[in-house]
Amino acid sequence: MPPSPTIPMAGPWVTQSEVDMVTDAMTRGWYDQPYYYVETFQREFAAWHGRKHALMTPNCTTALHLLLTGLGIGEGDEVIVPDCTWIGSTAAISYLRATPVFCDINKDNWCLDPGAVRRAITPRTKAIIAVDLFGNMADWDALTDIAESHQLWLVEDAAESLGSTYRGRRAGSFGVGAVFSFHRTKTLTTGEGGMLLLDDDALYERCAMWRDHGRKPGGQTYFNYEVTYKYMPFNVQAALGLGQFRRIDELVARKRWIFEQYRARLGDIDGLQWNAEPPHVFNSIWTTALVLDPKWGLDKPTLIAELAKLDVPARPFFYPLSSLPAYGSMGERYQSINPVAYDVSNRGVNLSCAMNLSEAQIDHICDGIRRVLAV
Ligand SMILES: Cc1ncc(COP(=O)(O)O)c(C=O)c1O
Repeated sequence: MPPSPTIPMAGPWVTQSEVDMVTDAMTRGWYDQPYYYVETFQREFAAWHGRKHALMTPNCTTALHLLLTGLGIGEGDEVIVPDCTWIGSTAAISYLRATPVFCDINKDNWCLDPGAVRRAITPRTKAIIAVDLFGNMADWDALTDIAESHQLWLVEDAAESLGSTYRGRRAGSFGVGAVFSFHRTKTLTTGEGGMLLLDDDALYERCAMWRDHGRKPGGQTYFNYEVTYKYMPFNVQAALGLGQFRRIDELVARKRWIFEQYRARLGDIDGLQWNAEPPHVFNSIWTTALVLDPKWGLDKPTLIAELAKLDVPARPFFYPLSSLPAYGSMGERYQSINPVAYDVSNRGVNLSCAMNLSEAQIDHICDGIRRVLAV
């Protein structure tokens, strides 16, 4: 493949140990052990998170679809979600003909605001999906209290927070179930891939059956109990995942290193908000995000365009989902309902989180930001 002349926005760190595992899966992972790597990856991933069960899936969106199906979410139900997240957090709600209810985010950690959640609960609310955005951790104490007191399912979307902790508990250990993404841009990648973590045995059995055409794990051959999805993973993909997972500390340390490089070069500038790191959180910084104080008078599109002129890549902070055509372009109405989401999103960008960033490239990015801000 030709070398890339530009600074990448995102990308993984794959070493010979993953290549060796994938080669092993490619050469030996077919006949007697067609799910060896899938099962080993699931077992180790669940244990590391202190969860009882794990189910690998083709991606995180399908993991959420499985979980919401297993929880019985359906037509007429409402599911509370943060307004600023990737659509993968919410798409499955619509697949099941339930309704996403977009709630405001907290101005410090950019995750679901518990106060907004309380106000959004109706008799039709069945579940809350909280997202640990960019590696930041949601306010799990408050969200757990709300879910318990209103008897709602609480789901953790940990797609972006592998390796983060909240009061010493790992991202992925909160709520009735948690989901991860192993997309090619994520800290741990399988190209495309996902994982569902669960503790409840019956829910696990249901989700496992829904993952594989209504078959029960270990059940009779060609025997289907229900018409369900087919969301099965395969050995080669899981071998890459297992190889990456066995390097998890190194992968997270690299993400933290990138964040610290940005902070070392730009940390002296007042009026820049970075990923949240309160004392009770270890932030694994899937991507470094930067939210500009209003004093700069620069909105997100202007900042991205000015940086592009200097060959500095940046991506927009997630748009509020309520503002997007996919959800009816409801921006005019939702700006006052979720003011923090609209305000923060309009001032925020993601910087490159590519694992292979060099110090020279980070210098170039930070020089570009200084030039645009004229500081
Ligand atoms: C917060 C969040 N949730 C869900 C997803 C969906 O993940 P996937 O692309 O693996 O389906 C992503 C992926 O980018 C994400 O960032």
